[in-house]
Amino acid sequence: MEPVFSTGGRVSGASLARLLGAWRQGDRRGSADLAGAVRVLVLDGRLTVGTRLPAERELADALGVSRTLVTAALDRLREDGLVASRRGAGTWIAMPVGSARPGGTGTASAPDMLDLSCASPPALPEIASAFDAARSRMPALFAEPGYLPLGLPELRERIAERYTARGLPTHADQVLVTNGAQHAFALALRMLVGPGDRVLMENPSYPNAIDAVRASHALPVAVAVTDEGWDVEGMEVMLRQAAPRLAFLMPDFHNPTGTYLDAAGRERLGAAARRTRTPVFVDETLVDLALEPDVVEAPPLAAFAEDLVITAGSASKTYWGGLRLGWVRAPVEMARRMVAIRPALDLGSPVLEQLVLAELLAAPATVLDRRRAEFRRRRDVFVAELRERCPAWEVPTPAGGLALWCRLDGPVSTRLAVAAEGLGVLVAPGSRFAVTGGLEHHMRLPFTAPEDQLADAARRLGLAASAVGGTSLAAEPLAGLAIT
Ligand SMILES: Cc1ncc(COP(=O)(O)O)c(C=O)c1O
Repeated sequence: MEPVFSTGGRVSGASLARLLGAWRQGDRRGSADLAGAVRVLVLDGRLTVGTRLPAERELADALGVSRTLVTAALDRLREDGLVASRRGAGTWIAMPVGSARPGGTGTASAPDMLDLSCASPPALPEIASAFDAARSRMPALFAEPGYLPLGLPELRERIAERYTARGLPTHADQVLVTNGAQHAFALALRMLVGPGDRVLMENPSYPNAIDAVRASHALPVAVAVTDEGWDVEGMEVMLRQAAPRLAFLMPDFHNPTGTYLDAAGRERLGAAARRTRTPVFVDETLVDLALEPDVVEAPPLAAFAEDLVITAGSASKTYWGGLRLGWVRAPVEMARRMVAIRPALDLGSPVLEQLVLAELLAAPATVLDRRRAEFRRRRDVFVAELRERCPAWEVPTPAGGLALWCRLDGPVSTRLAVAAEGLGVLVAPGSRFAVTGGLEHHMRLPFTAPEDQLADAARRLGLAASAVGGTSLAAEPLAGLAIT
């Protein structure tokens, strides 16, 4: 299991050497490469700000390199502002102000940087008129206290109607509005999982969900998902043998592979959950982003194990991440328990944004059709460009979602991320999505940016692939872009 080192903690030389494993296997072991590999660990969240690093000698011994090399790498990181040191207090991770941050393109310190580390799309254009409509309705609510731990009744009704229309009859009493799907998962973990409990996850999985499981001191156990689909049999066995307290699944355009579980697979998983009485948290964040007409829509997984499934939805990908809204659909009893534990974390979601989301949910279907068509175009451009620039990779065309899960021509994902950053593209290596380590053969590449930026990113990634010594061919050198 890949540890995440958090604020205030200390990472030992041996642990850091383990995290840097892919760097050590490479043949380019200079101080610049070591500095780059540490930078990737910071950018993808495995070393968090405030983490104290081991002493230079300890790290040099653990890595089997000279102390001079480690000193030079740390000097480089200090110059970049990525680490800070004080005599007597050691050296720690200190992300500089204006440095690369998740979401968006370009950074204050590197405006040319293309950020493909997050799959965060811009807002739906229609959101501006939804805000106008919501704002005009606010005065009627000003006489109320504004605390709505369950959520705005009108919004809960609309969410319930959507599930009913998808073949899962739902009453508003079963719906709780949250501050995003990630918040919903945090509530579910609090309600159901204690230290040492096992949580079944797909491998690869959504990194923030993996981190949430670890933060609750639970143990993630994994079953493989590939772009070919789920190992349903493996899941059935794991549910029986590992006796997890909870399963976290993304059957609706799984992040990062983009695969969709068909109705037969859902039926089998639902039956296995019922046999083992395992609660299942289904993250449907990407459910609205079917990009192929031939995806045969299956009923929500909850339809196959009604009393055990907590379903989470999100406004972030369909409408806009800045709304910070999601929801939970659960059996009434579980929804009540979640509301009861909520005040320890927060007291409800903002009213204006809930009105905006209620407006958006009532928008005609054509609005989402246009959004899907836009992402389909972006996906197709990125796939074509990557296949041309990185011919040794396997670049699949996912049926939905917002990212490509590419298979590289070697276990070089972390090294490729370092090289790509030097060429102005931020990417998260496959290992960031690994529940139990590994996945260095893969890279997740979101296609949320505009088409010209995706083409540019593919060109830079082709160069990076050549630089790490894979067999990919870079079509042409990049003019005016220094390799740092
Ligand atoms: C699978 C998955 N779950 C949850 C989230 C976070 O959703 P929210 O913004 O609603 O918290 C994301 C965002 O990338 C995601 O991809």
